[in-house]
Amino acid sequence: MKAARWHAAKDIRVEETEIPTAGQKQVKIEVQFTGICGSDLHEYTHGPMLIPVDKPYSLNGHQGVTTLGHEFSGIVSEVGKGVTNVKVGDRVVVEPLFKNPESPFIANGEYNLSEPLGFVGLTSNGGFAKYTVVEDYMVHKIPDSMSFEQGVQATIAAGSPNVIVVDVADKRLEKATEVGATHVINGKTEDIPAQVKKLTNGGADVYLDAAGVQATYENGLKSLRNGGTAVLVALFGKPVTHDAFDQVVREITIKGIIAYRNIFPQVIALIDSGRMPVEKLVTQKIKLDNIVADGFEALVSNPSQVKILVDING
Ligand SMILES: NC(=O)c1ccc[n+]([C@@H]2O[C@H](COP(=O)([O-])OP(=O)(O)OC[C@H]3O[C@@H](n4cnc5c(N)ncnc54)[C@H](O)[C@@H]3O)[C@@H](O)[C@H]2O)c1
Repeated sequence: MKAARWHAAKDIRVEETEIPTAGQKQVKIEVQFTGICGSDLHEYTHGPMLIPVDKPYSLNGHQGVTTLGHEFSGIVSEVGKGVTNVKVGDRVVVEPLFKNPESPFIANGEYNLSEPLGFVGLTSNGGFAKYTVVEDYMVHKIPDSMSFEQGVQATIAAGSPNVIVVDVADKRLEKATEVGATHVINGKTEDIPAQVKKLTNGGADVYLDAAGVQATYENGLKSLRNGGTAVLVALFGKPVTHDAFDQVVREITIKGIIAYRNIFPQVIALIDSGRMPVEKLVTQKIKLDNIVADGFEALVSNPSQVKILVDING
C-alpha cells in the first residue's frame, strides 16, 4: 500500500510499504480521512520532535522512518483475538495517545500524563496510508449520522463558543468568526493586550496558546486579568523567556495541556448534534499522492489554508 512516510525534516515520501496486521489487542483500520495537524507540520519543517530516531519507542519498538497522521477516521477491517470493544465494519475515530500500562497515571485516571509520551503517526505508523493498526483502547465508534470528515475533526475540536481569537492570518480569523468566535484580532496590526482588555473589561480569564512563539506567549500573559490562567497547548519550537516577577505579583497560573483525557465521547456527541460545525474549518481535501505539495507545503506557505484533509481513497 502507499503511505506518506517521514524520513527527515523536509523529506516526506509517498511510497510503497507493507500492509500491517493486527496483533492480539490491536485493531486494523481502513483509513478514510486524515487531517494534517500542526504537530505534523513541526515534524515536516524542523523534526524530529516526537518521532523516535535515536532509540526505539519503548512501548512498541518503533524507530526511524514513520508513516505520519494521527487525526483520522476509518472502518475497522480486522481485530486481534483479544479485542472486545469494536468489530469488523465499525466506523471509528482514533484517540492516538499511547498508554503505558505500568504508569501510575493510568491507575489515577490521568492517562495522558503516562510516560513515555507517544502518539500513533509519530511513535508508530499512522493514518496517511490505506491501512493502519492501533491499540484497541484508542478506538471510538462514531454514529452512522456522522461523516468521516467530521469524525477526523473530533480529534482537533475543543473549546468554548465565547472566545476572542488572535491570529496573523486573515483567512483563519474569518474562519474563526464563521465557527463562532465572538471577536477576532489580527496580531500583526493590532495591540493585542489593549484590545483584549477593552473587550473583557480588564483582561481575559483564560488564554490558550496554540501558536507557541515568544510573541504569543508575552501577549497572552499581558492580556490576562490578574489571577487569570494561561493554558499552553502549542508544542513550542524554542524556549521562551519568562517574566516570573510579573507572574507572581499578578497571581497568574500557567498550565500545560497534553493531548486528550476522557474527551472524545463528548466531542463526538457535540459534533453529531450539530452544535460544533467543525466541517467549516476544512479548506481543502487532497489526495495522498499530493500530500507534500498540496498539504505540507500549502500549510507552510499559504495562509488561506486552515484544515486540510487527506482523502485516502481519493
Ligand atoms: N498539547 C497538545 O496536546 C497538542 C495537540 C495538538 C496540537 N498541538 C500543537 O498546537 C499547536 C497548534 O496546532 P494547529 O494544528 O492548530 O496548528 P496550525 O499550524 O494550524 O495553527 C497555528 C496557528 O498559529 C498562528 N500563529 C503563528 N504565529 C502567530 C503569532 N505570532 N501570533 C498569532 N498567531 C500566530 C498561525 O497563523 C496558525 O493559525 C501546534 O504547535 C501543535 O503542535 C498540541
